[in-house]
Amino acid sequence: MKIAMVGAGYVGLVSGACLADFGHEVVCIDKDPARISRLQNGIMPIYEPGLAELVSGNMRAGRLAFSTDLAESIKGAQAIFIAVGTPSRRGDGHADLSFVYAVAKEIGANLRDPAVIVTKSTVPVGTGDEVERILRDSGTKAQFAVVSNPEFLREGAAIGDFKRPDRIVIGAEDEFGRQIMKEVYRPLFLNKAPILFTSRRSAELIKYAANAFLATKITFINEMADLCEKVGGNVQDVARGIGLDNRIGPKFLHAGPGYGGSCFPKDTLALLKTAEDYDSPVRIVEAVVKVNDSRKRAMGRKVIEALGGPDATRGKRVALLGLTFKPNTDDMRDAPSLVIAQALIDAGVEVMAYDPEGMELAQPLMPGVTMCASPYAAADGADAIALVTEWDAFRALDLERIKAVVKAPVMVDLRNVYDPAEMRAAGFAYMSIGRA
Ligand code: UDX
Repeated sequence: MKIAMVGAGYVGLVSGACLADFGHEVVCIDKDPARISRLQNGIMPIYEPGLAELVSGNMRAGRLAFSTDLAESIKGAQAIFIAVGTPSRRGDGHADLSFVYAVAKEIGANLRDPAVIVTKSTVPVGTGDEVERILRDSGTKAQFAVVSNPEFLREGAAIGDFKRPDRIVIGAEDEFGRQIMKEVYRPLFLNKAPILFTSRRSAELIKYAANAFLATKITFINEMADLCEKVGGNVQDVARGIGLDNRIGPKFLHAGPGYGGSCFPKDTLALLKTAEDYDSPVRIVEAVVKVNDSRKRAMGRKVIEALGGPDATRGKRVALLGLTFKPNTDDMRDAPSLVIAQALIDAGVEVMAYDPEGMELAQPLMPGVTMCASPYAAADGADAIALVTEWDAFRALDLERIKAVVKAPVMVDLRNVYDPAEMRAAGFAYMSIGRA
């Protein structure tokens, strides 16, 4: 099947490359000529494990191409995906749909062959209706259907998530749309990934509800961690103890410095906005957003406590290990490290940092922070080390080497990577999350 993927960003690129790998003929379209020409030369705009190989392999096989020409690229395509960005609109948290609508307009103006227009971008409930209206108003004579097909890709694991999904959600209003989408996902279907057909509005809501629920789960365990610290419990035992209940499940119960990234912060805000628009409050999600925001600041205070409190910070130096919002990505969006670094700088602390992939994107966002060549270089002369992102490279640090270079062997482990007893035995003053 011929497929057009509009938007060669994170979602479009991963989805396009995976669909090509299933044997479809895919063109990824982007209006940024520099991005397209780099892609044509095998240079990825993002860091995602396995993506460069997947793209180049499918390009060589003639199944994947890149173009800036939407009108030409959608000719003969039976499925046209819209996978452009929906950033939070400045000020009000509303998803900014101007890119989605502009693409819908351009598709409408150029659509000649029967096609399903698929919104893959995360869009608020009702966006599919608006896309359909735009296409109708365009006066196209071609048969079309507008379908919602949300993505559930995790950065760093996106290819696996696409190829072996827990489920595929298709929100379609007619048989034409359902049939074409079945064809698109047939290779996965044979692999027994459940395909869930729903109405378009339900599919749009599923995406937000899933992300809000996961954000809630994380925030819940984070508050339990705070309580553990006060009452003398261990949050990892609590997580395991509740997670073994099948109704709760063990995943997304790792206490940490608060969630970040491109999805949870943006999608929870957009859901709040939708709830407000429809006068149907989602108070739990409201609380989650507030608690998560204040948690990042609290993490800054936790590191300051480890330095001896707010009165003891002047002239001190902290090493931040890990800057990205999670490992295996270079994404810095809403990363807790941003808030933590700022809190430290505000307190007069000198901040050194090391991240395996994120430093290039991080540097302009944290101009006061000195980027270092290794965790050991960052730790040189430090009064405390804060482990912020659980990269594999930080799981087996040479503690003797660290001890030899730091000013004081103090570690604040915001991801509970290390064992408290072992760290103490190694001579570190060690603080972690939810472990008294
Ligand atoms: C998420 C969803 O998982 C994915 O389905 C959706 O399509 C996009 O948003 P992503 O943002 O890539 O994916 O990362 P994810 O692995 O879900 O982590 C999100 C944040 O939650 C990270 O900051 C992570 O550190 C944090 N997290 C996650 C925790 O603090 N504890 C956990 O137990 C899990």
